Amino acid sequence: MGSIRSRQSNPPFRMRVYGLLLFVFLILCAACFPTDLFAAKIVRVGFYENSPKIFTAESGLPAGIFADIIRYIAEKEGWELRFVHGTWSQGLDRLEKGDIDLMPDVAYTEARGKLFSFHSDPALYSWFQVFSRRGSGIRSIPDLDGKRVAVLYRSIQQEIFDRIIRDFGLSVSFVTFSDFESAFQAVANGKADAVLTNRFFGAHHMRAYNLEDTAISFNPTRLFFAAPRDSDPAIPAAIDKHLREMKRNPDSVYFSSLAQWTSSPVFMVIPTWLKSTATLLAFLTLLGGILSFAFKRQADSRAAELTRLFDNAPMGLFFSGRDGTIKRTNAEALRMLGLESADILGEKVEDFIRRSGKRDEKDAVTKESFSSEFHAEGKRKDGTTVPLACIVFPLTPSGKMLGTYTVFQDISLQAANEKRIGSIIRELNRTVSALKKSWEQTVLVLASLSEVRDPYTSGHQRRVARLAAAIACEMGMERRKARQVELAAMIHDIGKIEIPSEILSKPGKLSDIEYRLIQTHPAAGHRILQTIEVPWALAEIIHQHHERMDGSGYPRGLSGSDILMEARIIAVADTVEAMSSHRPYRAGKGIEAALGEVASQRGKGFAPDVADACLRLFREKEFRFDEEPGRIG
Ligand SMILES: [Fe+2]
Repeated sequence: MGSIRSRQSNPPFRMRVYGLLLFVFLILCAACFPTDLFAAKIVRVGFYENSPKIFTAESGLPAGIFADIIRYIAEKEGWELRFVHGTWSQGLDRLEKGDIDLMPDVAYTEARGKLFSFHSDPALYSWFQVFSRRGSGIRSIPDLDGKRVAVLYRSIQQEIFDRIIRDFGLSVSFVTFSDFESAFQAVANGKADAVLTNRFFGAHHMRAYNLEDTAISFNPTRLFFAAPRDSDPAIPAAIDKHLREMKRNPDSVYFSSLAQWTSSPVFMVIPTWLKSTATLLAFLTLLGGILSFAFKRQADSRAAELTRLFDNAPMGLFFSGRDGTIKRTNAEALRMLGLESADILGEKVEDFIRRSGKRDEKDAVTKESFSSEFHAEGKRKDGTTVPLACIVFPLTPSGKMLGTYTVFQDISLQAANEKRIGSIIRELNRTVSALKKSWEQTVLVLASLSEVRDPYTSGHQRRVARLAAAIACEMGMERRKARQVELAAMIHDIGKIEIPSEILSKPGKLSDIEYRLIQTHPAAGHRILQTIEVPWALAEIIHQHHERMDGSGYPRGLSGSDILMEARIIAVADTVEAMSSHRPYRAGKGIEAALGEVASQRGKGFAPDVADACLRLFREKEFRFDEEPGRIG
């Protein structure tokens, strides 16, 4: 009976045993499986300070474009994000060791491609840019020669820029920092001359540190979330999937984050509904970046060439900024002024170049105009001065005046030459003047001799000379030529020196032989004078003074243009004076008879212009001989 009772109580017991076994099994199961089997996937994300891409917000939490993107993806994928703060370098180390699952803001390079795993669609596009203190004068890569450039430690910027610097053959000292804020602060404090960063950080922070962007930008960059090399490929795949979705939607977190964290428009705005268009635009953007880089390289290369030209120019050069201080100079300027760069840079142009004379309004340099050339005095270090010719012109790229170039040249040699030439010219003038006086004295002496030899012609030649000179002036002949006419007239009868005085002073009519003898005096005068060196045709004028325009004169019967103008003038003056004077063989006929002869011979024996000038002098300008016509005989 008891055993039956016992067996009857077994089913509840077995049930309890089975329940216990089930409980133990479940406990064991719970113990054997990971506790997070059903928990959210934890993704550890490194972050560092590089705003606005990623940084620590005032709340202490990560913020920025990369933070917004990964938070959105995590939410969609059900990931639990654990952000791990550090420097950029620490982030890379952690990623390499697998201590974090993602590191944002990593530019793809071949080397990094071997160390890390990258998704396909870039999270951001950027480029590198150099920023410097305002007014530093750093505009192009060659300007960085000898400068200290702050960079982020182990950054791709340093690696690529170092290669560019070596290509240019420049010497640049890199000063490394663990974050960009420290690097920017170093430039602001003067511990570095420029900082190399990405366009996002630079544009976002330059004003806060009183820096300005330079024209030095290069290397279009694609930025990704990098994962450890052997990490779960689902993570990069998920990032790609959501990035593509976000980029197709202009209202997505992606674009709102870019709009929030960047003040500049996003250059890679892809229309959302057409994947092919998006791909095309992305390609064009990348291509544009590459071309931009190529043009920049070309521009930098040109800038380098200009810099070489500036440095090696054969004239002195100063470049002054808008504040008037000298920012750059060249070797020739230093040589001319006997100065070192350190003596000049940061000083005013006026400290070294002092303008000679008064500054003219036209010398003002505006952004549209050059100054006129001016002479100045260069102050040398040893206290001496050097004469300079200078010109100033503005540097106005895009119409904005950035400063001025002062170009100057040592003209001490030129000044010495000018002084020497001036001295030679003065000496020459003295010699010419002395020679002129000498010719004139010779002519006057000859005239005196002539008059001493033939007292009957006393005063004739002098009066003819005065009238001839007056006619020459009346005809508009230049003063020098009129003087030559006057001098020639003063000795026009010098050939009579060879005629016996008895014939010259013979009262009554001359015989044919006597007359022919007298007619030889022009040729005799020519013979006498041709041995005297004078700078005009004195002998020939004397030879022609009895020639007539119609060929009726003597001794050669010349006519028209064969007769020199000086001889034509003397012919008229001689006739007027001779007719109005007394002759040994006749009484003077008077001035009116003489002028009547001139009028009647106008266009025949006498040149019309000479005859007209003579008549005007007497009839309109009251010309009179100074003394009464000489009485010959
Ligand atoms: Fe004569």
